[in-house]
Amino acid sequence: MYYSRIIGSGSSLPERRLTNFDLEKMVDTSDAWIMERTGISSRHIVTDESSADLASEAAKEAIVNADIDPKLIDLIIVATCTPERLLPNTGCLVQNALGIRGCPAFDLNAACSGFIYALSVADQYISRGLYKHILTVGTDTLSKIVNWEDRTTCVLFGDGAGAIVLRADHTPGILGTHLYSDAANRDVLYATKTHADTSPIIKMRGRELFKVAVNTLEKLAIDTLDKHGFKHDDLDWLVPHQANLRIIKAAAKRLKLPLDRVIQTVQKHGNTSAASLPLALHDGIQSGKVKQNELVMLEVFGAGLTWGSALLRY
Ligand code: COA
Repeated sequence: MYYSRIIGSGSSLPERRLTNFDLEKMVDTSDAWIMERTGISSRHIVTDESSADLASEAAKEAIVNADIDPKLIDLIIVATCTPERLLPNTGCLVQNALGIRGCPAFDLNAACSGFIYALSVADQYISRGLYKHILTVGTDTLSKIVNWEDRTTCVLFGDGAGAIVLRADHTPGILGTHLYSDAANRDVLYATKTHADTSPIIKMRGRELFKVAVNTLEKLAIDTLDKHGFKHDDLDWLVPHQANLRIIKAAAKRLKLPLDRVIQTVQKHGNTSAASLPLALHDGIQSGKVKQNELVMLEVFGAGLTWGSALLRY
């Protein structure tokens, strides 16, 4: 039996930063409204970069931080709902950017929850002893499918990528991952093409989604701790999906966790979809907050609806 241990993390954010004040010039909104309702103050938006470009940069940094030769990577999994190309998959483009050949590479799409799904798949391969090093990436450029005239959605999202390298180890590691989907709310957040020649456009019923998200995440966090026999006091860090500061605060309150034990990046990244969790995790690691062997919970929700959690020892 092997455990998956995180041995390196990385991130990539587009250079261009879009503040709430920039958005005031684009749609009928205000910095005060966005701050009060979401906690977001700025986000990064791509100019020419694709999800694959961001993923490749994050992957390179994660591999450098893991201090391994990229050739040791046995598998690449990329979570994204905004791939650069329909085919080949983003994982193959990342593999090419890393200058390696032969290892399997694939994408998966579970919207914002994609990274937890990818982590779960990677963990199965490692725990069964099939692979030793797995590169797991979350990357999205939702700015490409946002309607920039719709103030109810365009203020929420940002672009970015986060990556981690997992290594098989005899000490934990990922203790468990828990995945869920329920399509009853498939129309609360979705993107389809409006015309054959246009990109998909995001549509969302925000208020409805807010309530579902708060209830789902509160239950998810408690259930995850219960399943592993931990109490809320045992948790060192909560790394929640970075969609809305109010949702994050509600989840922390239910867990009786002070906010200084919750990694928060939503203020500067907005909601970066599949990149949200690995970006936040990398931020926590890089800033020196998350330390070796601490107990960390990742939790997320997204279109589908999909949701899930992971409990791990860093
Ligand atoms: N600027 C100014 N006013 C805005 C606005 C904006 N960007 N967007 C909406 N409004 C207006 C609405 O039109 C509404 O006006 P009305 O009262 O005259 O009808 C008012 O603000 C309140 O809108 P409401 O949707 O009820 O606000 P809210 O408190 O629910 O906050 C969200 C809206 C989107 C921030 C919040 O519902 C949310 O975060 N939902 C979850 C979204 C999410 O997490 N999505 C990603 C999932 S992975």
